[in-house]
Amino acid sequence: MKFDIYNIEQYKKDIDDKGLIAVWKEILEYCILHNTKNTFLDVYNFGELYEIGLAHLDKKNKKENGVYYTPIDVAAVLSNYLKDLKGDIICDVCCGTGNLILSYLNILGKERAVELLHNGKVYLYDMDELALKICRTSIGILYGIEYIDKITCVNGDFLDKEIHLPKNAKVISNPPYFKINDILITWETTEVIEDTKELYSAFLEKIIKESVSSVIITPFSFLSGDKFFSLRKLLNNYNGFIISFDNVPGNIFKGKKHGIFNTNTSNAVRAAITVVENKKDKKGFRISPLLRFSSNEREKLLNNTVLNSFLSSNYQIISESNRDYYKCFTELLPIYNTWMKKSNDSFNSLLLKKTSEYVLYMPKTCRYFVSATKKDLKRTGKTVLYFKDRESMEFAYCLLNSSFAYLYWRIYEGAITYSDGLLKSIPIFMDILTEEEKIEIHKIVSKMISEEENYLVYKKNASEMQENVKFPVTYRDELNKLLLNVLDISNDVRIFDKVHSNSIFE
Ligand SMILES: C[S@@+](CC[C@H](N)C(=O)[O-])C[C@H]1O[C@@H](n2cnc3c(N)ncnc32)[C@H](O)[C@@H]1O
Repeated sequence: MKFDIYNIEQYKKDIDDKGLIAVWKEILEYCILHNTKNTFLDVYNFGELYEIGLAHLDKKNKKENGVYYTPIDVAAVLSNYLKDLKGDIICDVCCGTGNLILSYLNILGKERAVELLHNGKVYLYDMDELALKICRTSIGILYGIEYIDKITCVNGDFLDKEIHLPKNAKVISNPPYFKINDILITWETTEVIEDTKELYSAFLEKIIKESVSSVIITPFSFLSGDKFFSLRKLLNNYNGFIISFDNVPGNIFKGKKHGIFNTNTSNAVRAAITVVENKKDKKGFRISPLLRFSSNEREKLLNNTVLNSFLSSNYQIISESNRDYYKCFTELLPIYNTWMKKSNDSFNSLLLKKTSEYVLYMPKTCRYFVSATKKDLKRTGKTVLYFKDRESMEFAYCLLNSSFAYLYWRIYEGAITYSDGLLKSIPIFMDILTEEEKIEIHKIVSKMISEEENYLVYKKNASEMQENVKFPVTYRDELNKLLLNVLDISNDVRIFDKVHSNSIFE
């Protein structure tokens, strides 16, 4: 019995000899007979084993950038959210070999899982016929072969007009994240698809429109940016919450997978978990800050109660005057709100379109802080800012080197670069500065400019040295204190430490 002592080498050899489909037919038949006692051919290893098979056939590389399998701990978080949502029929859209549905049934426990299966309340959707077969058979192996035929499998393009979710569906999903090159005529053409040209947003839209509740993991990019505005507006008709994760230092998709083979490759996507609850009498979404964590905090963070603790109670509604979701730390919300209320202009109003003697240089990339300098930095990727007068330049220097500009970026962007559009839109409150405060700003800024050369730092990027200025934290504290005073906020400056930290727990 070769499967009793099966291994990767034999598996790859079998694929070469017989092809992936035939090998999996044999594996599944063997496992149905022998249940799941073989540790190598364990149902929970099938996903990875299948990926290894695809990689061996070199199909995977072509797919890599848009297909992110859900690690086991993340699947458990999604499942725990789904468990408490309304809906009768469980649908795994883009189930693959079943990471999500297997996690969900496992969390429900055998008795409830069997009840669902017995009542024909599990639906699986995927365009990959073999993956779908592995998924369905895995459920049969774990919960009873007799239930295989009770699972509804929909093999095809989920976006096809002919394919729909059943009534009263609750959905769990990790869709593909590809760009849309051509809008297919088989799809329902929607404003969201036309605006975004992103496959994941097309899945989000269709799932949300056709289900009563859902838990979906996707990139976080739809939380802001013009092209996703129509998707966010659509979300106003529903309610729930969205938790987003940074991809450094720890990364959601870099955790241990289900199985034992350690095939994980590093993926850079910043992820968001959208939970559509559709509670009565609520509209809009509660939004978490962009959560940063280190790999050793992963276990602590990936816990539903811990994740919920980062959500504010405010349901955000998207409109022309509030076009993006703001991902704010709950502790900083009072500061953010006062800042918005007391601002009556935007950063753009300080700038000149033509050159002037009042110039600042700002690196475009930001990781843990934003800086702006009078010195022309030796680097690529910098924004050159010309100001209309000295006062405007000094106020900008103060704002950009404080935590305010960085906080604003983390709230509305938070990926890699500070976009020009976001920079120009920073709300400013220069008109409420007193004469004493203007003098104070002039004093601090002059001192910092004179010391820029002392705090030069260098980082190698794409084989070129990138120059920046990193002032000691005490300088930032001083600027934060000053700006908080201007806004008449009595918080300790240490409240900003969280914004710059690489851990949400610090
Ligand atoms: C990122 S994987 C998710 C697999 C699994 N649910 C998980 O979370 O690990 C995406 C899955 O979507 C499937 N898929 C891609 N495009 C699809 C489409 N248009 N319709 C249905 N399934 C699709 C792929 O075959 C793949 O199994």
